[in-house]
Amino acid sequence: MKLIAAKDYDEMSLIAARFFAAQVLLKPTSLFGFATGSTPIGLYKELIRKNADGKITFKYAHTVNLDEYYGMSRDKKQSYYSFMHENLFDHIDINPENTRLPDGMAEDPDAECAAYDKHIADLGGVDMQLLGIGHDGHIGFNEPADHFSTGTNCVTLTAMTIDANKRFFNSADEVPRKALTMGMREIMQAKKIIMVVSGKDKAQILYDSFCGPVTPQVPASILQLHPDFTLVADEDALSVMKAHCCKCCK
Ligand code: GLP
Repeated sequence: MKLIAAKDYDEMSLIAARFFAAQVLLKPTSLFGFATGSTPIGLYKELIRKNADGKITFKYAHTVNLDEYYGMSRDKKQSYYSFMHENLFDHIDINPENTRLPDGMAEDPDAECAAYDKHIADLGGVDMQLLGIGHDGHIGFNEPADHFSTGTNCVTLTAMTIDANKRFFNSADEVPRKALTMGMREIMQAKKIIMVVSGKDKAQILYDSFCGPVTPQVPASILQLHPDFTLVADEDALSVMKAHCCKCCK
């Protein structure tokens, strides 16, 4: 695991964006694994700027996303489909046909999950995966569990995740209870993984994830075992790790 400490959210976004820009320069046909949540927005803005300046092109790139709410149609503003178009795809030169998210309205979620995994495999696997982290250590929508999941699957969201995500809805009641998410195995199979984390509210879960044991009760902890994992986090997010961890961050 590599750790890059940024002073604040803006610096975190600039540093992380450089990894994605370098990846698309080195391999224009890369398959990117993208993420939603508020944390990656600054990074996406930076990629949009670099693309507008002509420094990078996504013309030949493909993307998949970690997850989508189940039972939510694409045209809803809270769908991750809408999020990705609003925050990235509509502002860069990517071919929309080369972008894919799980279909939250799939009648047969198992078939959709299997097709999603096949799509990733057919494209040769994810070259660079972007991750944020939930307050309970979830990545994608892989919530704390008794085992690490394999395969894109339909999950039930925890009360903590529903509570964290209600800010995007009129009330917690409107937050979907289920989601389709790439499994831990598929995330771990990405060739490179970059995680972005900002803010004091994520400091404890970062400590639990990267200074404690690898356990499915803290899903992000498995990233300790990935051969090319980089954590880009700001000072606030690193505050507990810096104070208490003896491993990687001193
Ligand atoms: C959602 C997404 C995750 C994301 C998390 C944290 O649960 N499924 O991929 O990492 O939110 O979001 P934020 O960056 O807004 O804290």
